[in-house]
Amino acid sequence: MNQDEINSLNEQTDIVSLVSKYVKLEKQGKNYKGLCPFHHEKTPSFIVSTEKNMFNCFGCHKAGGPLKFIQEIENVDYQEAVKLLCDFNGVKYVGTKIKVDPNLKYYQIMETSKDFYNRFLLDDKSSINALEYLKSRGITEEIIKDFEIGLSPNSYDVLYKVLTDMKYLELDMADCGLVDSGDNGKYHDLFVNRIMFPIKDEKNNTLGFSARIYVKDPNQPKYINSRDTKIFRKNQVLFNINNAKPEIIRKNRIIIHEGQMDIIASYKSGLKEAVCTLGTAIGENQIKIISKLTKNVIICYDGDKAGIDSSKKAINLFKRFGFNIHLVLLPNGMDPDEFVMRYGEDKYLEYFESHIIDEVDYLYNVAILNNNLDDKNVLNKVKLDVFSLIASLGSKIEEEKYLKRFSEYLNSSLDAVVEDYNKSRNININIEIKPQIKKLNKVKKYNSECELRLIYYAIKSRDEALRIDNEIRNDLIAFSQESLQLWVSLVNTYYEEYLIFDEEKFVNMISEEAFNQYKLLNDVLRKSLNQDYNEEDLRACINKIKDIREDIKNRNLHENNLNSNDETIKSRNVDEMFRNRRNKEKRKFEEEK
Ligand code: CTP
Ligand code: MN
Repeated sequence: MNQDEINSLNEQTDIVSLVSKYVKLEKQGKNYKGLCPFHHEKTPSFIVSTEKNMFNCFGCHKAGGPLKFIQEIENVDYQEAVKLLCDFNGVKYVGTKIKVDPNLKYYQIMETSKDFYNRFLLDDKSSINALEYLKSRGITEEIIKDFEIGLSPNSYDVLYKVLTDMKYLELDMADCGLVDSGDNGKYHDLFVNRIMFPIKDEKNNTLGFSARIYVKDPNQPKYINSRDTKIFRKNQVLFNINNAKPEIIRKNRIIIHEGQMDIIASYKSGLKEAVCTLGTAIGENQIKIISKLTKNVIICYDGDKAGIDSSKKAINLFKRFGFNIHLVLLPNGMDPDEFVMRYGEDKYLEYFESHIIDEVDYLYNVAILNNNLDDKNVLNKVKLDVFSLIASLGSKIEEEKYLKRFSEYLNSSLDAVVEDYNKSRNININIEIKPQIKKLNKVKKYNSECELRLIYYAIKSRDEALRIDNEIRNDLIAFSQESLQLWVSLVNTYYEEYLIFDEEKFVNMISEEAFNQYKLLNDVLRKSLNQDYNEEDLRACINKIKDIREDIKNRNLHENNLNSNDETIKSRNVDEMFRNRRNKEKRKFEEEK
């Protein structure tokens, strides 16, 4: 180690933590104060400054940084002190550079606490009721060890005392979300008399806890999770990722459940590649972690309404990250834990592996789930759900497959179902536009800014949206295909159901293509358009769209005269003209800018 490295190590050492190992310190303003370890005294004159990262005794005048402190207190030479300082910091060499992990102390505190809770559950006599409870839920001693499950004592400050005895600082414990100081300034434990599930990262570091109540108390929440800390962010962790990782890689798939008990149920049954979030919807950060391990996900949430709703949201999010998505729908609204308790591990495994279905199958099954078809309103709702699902398939063969299935389910003829299906389609997409959308598919995608602006105005209010739609309904052919999709989703689907624009609701109901367009709109336009509303601009956009539409109509007429029947040449020419028109548009906009 060269001198620069030693200096940097010295500077990065947290001197308060270091000194605390030898001296009982008390906070005083910005500094810490204690009895000097280098000379005998009854009133403290030994000061540790976090700002300067130095100690200083006003009695014996010893002073210095971390390295000096170790050298003095351990009575060792310089080289030996460097070694001890390395040990203290858990120093890792990155290339030739030394990197001290500033969070090391938090990892150590969490590790210590996890071990303490775990030993308390396994060894302490008072844990008998908790062990009984776990047993009643099918959690054996083996599972306790594999997941390092623990118990927080039913007391005021046992963990606090354990950590204090090990010379950890109160502030660091509090920063870990384990203790808090009350009004009297005394610290107390935050987790009391709960089953402790450690939440770990891929490298097996304990980052936080999810703590379940096991005694009956209706006034307390079932689970309490660690608050977010320097090392624990609820939306960035996945329970069981540490155990699951090798299995995810081996099987090249991951299972997502809702809760810890479900993970344990799957684990016992041989599905060790399962993870869950902590009572929150899965988010981008978590999917990014998964992305590095596999692109195949099986979503198996609770089979109840809430679980189905979260599944739909999860499908959309995983889709955005290019995942290959499958699902398992459990019967009778059960969750995996309930299934295993009722039918056993073998039946669960068998059911799971034989009921892995794709997204469309899942959505279809969910649409026809538990419905009383004698009720006309219910029947209509089911039809609407199934038909819009079928319409989104984009393949005639698939369409037919599901229409057949649906007719069998309804016990009616395929013809009748197809007729109803076609009727329902025409309500949503204007017949006049429909055949033209196909042509647009081939047009090189350039989104004119005026269509984006119009969507922007339409998002602002439902009334505005309907007013604009009324004016340009017959001109929508001039929109790019993506904008058209976004428009139809907004005006014909979203505002059909809701009066006020809610981004989360909207984004969850639209296709991927429409979503990408929405993002584009957000990125490009909403920032540059800070005027709240501008009638003049709106007018200009409407007129421009009408111009484009007029242009297309003229070209089409021209086309039809030239080539009476040759479909391919026709569409190619339309493409070209459309492209030219749009390029002109584009240039003009850029010039204006
Ligand atoms: N959860 C939470 N806070 C709550 C309730 C639940 O953080 N008040 C989280 C927990 O991580 C839990 C998950 O949400 O594991 C699923 O919750 P839920 O379905 O209500 O619980 P179960 O998994 O059925 O839990 P248990 O079987 O222990 O009752
Ligand atoms: Mn449960």
